[in-house]
Amino acid sequence: MQAHQVDGIKRDHFKIFQQRAYLNSCSQGALADEVRTAYTLYLDQLEEFGSLWESWVGVQEDVRTQLAKVFSTQGDQVAVTTSASAAVNAIASCFDFRNGPNKVITTSLEFPTVGQIWHAQERNGAQVVHVPADLDNRLPAERVAAAIDENTAIVSVTHVCYRNGAMNDIKAIVEVAHERGVPVLVDAYQSTGAVPIDFENLGADFLVGGVLKYMLSSPGIGFALVNNKTVSELVPTTTGWFAARDIFSMDIAAYDPAKDARRFEAGTPNVPSLYAAQAGLKFLLEVGVENAWRVSSELHSQLRAGILDMGGKCATPEGDDEHGPMLAVKTTDEHALVNAMAQDNVVVSSRDGNLRISPHFYNNSEDVDMALRSIAKNRHLLFTH
Ligand SMILES: Cc1ncc(COP(=O)(O)O)c(C=O)c1O
Repeated sequence: MQAHQVDGIKRDHFKIFQQRAYLNSCSQGALADEVRTAYTLYLDQLEEFGSLWESWVGVQEDVRTQLAKVFSTQGDQVAVTTSASAAVNAIASCFDFRNGPNKVITTSLEFPTVGQIWHAQERNGAQVVHVPADLDNRLPAERVAAAIDENTAIVSVTHVCYRNGAMNDIKAIVEVAHERGVPVLVDAYQSTGAVPIDFENLGADFLVGGVLKYMLSSPGIGFALVNNKTVSELVPTTTGWFAARDIFSMDIAAYDPAKDARRFEAGTPNVPSLYAAQAGLKFLLEVGVENAWRVSSELHSQLRAGILDMGGKCATPEGDDEHGPMLAVKTTDEHALVNAMAQDNVVVSSRDGNLRISPHFYNNSEDVDMALRSIAKNRHLLFTH
């Protein structure tokens, strides 16, 4: 059966497609003309006016509002940080592991930064447990449930795994954790901007991510979504003046954190990146995450069918709600295959022995065909048994 041809959305706004099939949004989103213009605007304004603190704070607030829109939530539940790691650190700093429950349950599917941050908390009394995924990279909620006990402080789980593209059933995990009164932190970096997420409906207490991948923007901006019910109970000890109730109070003698999610912020924002994030998020909201997910799901299926036709094997689970946009293909030499594909002007990346091919709304069926043709030429690098 002939696969349905998919046209990319607003593809002509991304110059890279004039030269390459860019299929690496799991690493960095393609640069839109609008985002490039936003970076330039920052420099132009700096040159013309010098410092513009008030207007920079305004850009930060706009980024907050747009992030809230992406996740169908309110701005007071959004902290704009400088990385996902900064967001997780601020959240981790709220826990008093020596005088309360101290078990942190995390998983084998996490990005290293998450595991590392929780292990750093061992100095403060945390005890970290890693729940392993199945051999096929699935993580049933029952596995997480089995690890939870009365000493559990938090469950910290990724939404989509950066290595193999597996997507966890967060609602099911939240349900088993909340039954036992345990909060859940979701690392949604690999789904943010690509998979529709309604924060209230998801039910998680915290969700972290960043804007440089499927949100089309820049390194230097991450975020934490923090449930309103949770926020008032938590006081970060990793903090700074931009987390204060009144940023410009300039009070040396007290710590008075903002009443809302802003308390998870820290120092001076990454202003150039905020300009890029403002433009990238505007662009994404115009396209719509639902539309992005429709396009990438279709292209993901086309890629998978092509790989299987060649006798290749995928590390990404197959069910519609078991994977994000990225398809991970098993290889015998991931770096050789990435380099060979670069020679054919196809940009992809790799992790953990797998080739990572990650379509987004701007990709089309021709990109997928280019990638498949290039892989076919190098099929000796596919893992096939
Ligand atoms: C799933 C996931 N979590 C966290 C990170 C790291 O985010 P940051 O560098 O903003 O801390 C990444 C980066 O690739 C990621 O893919």
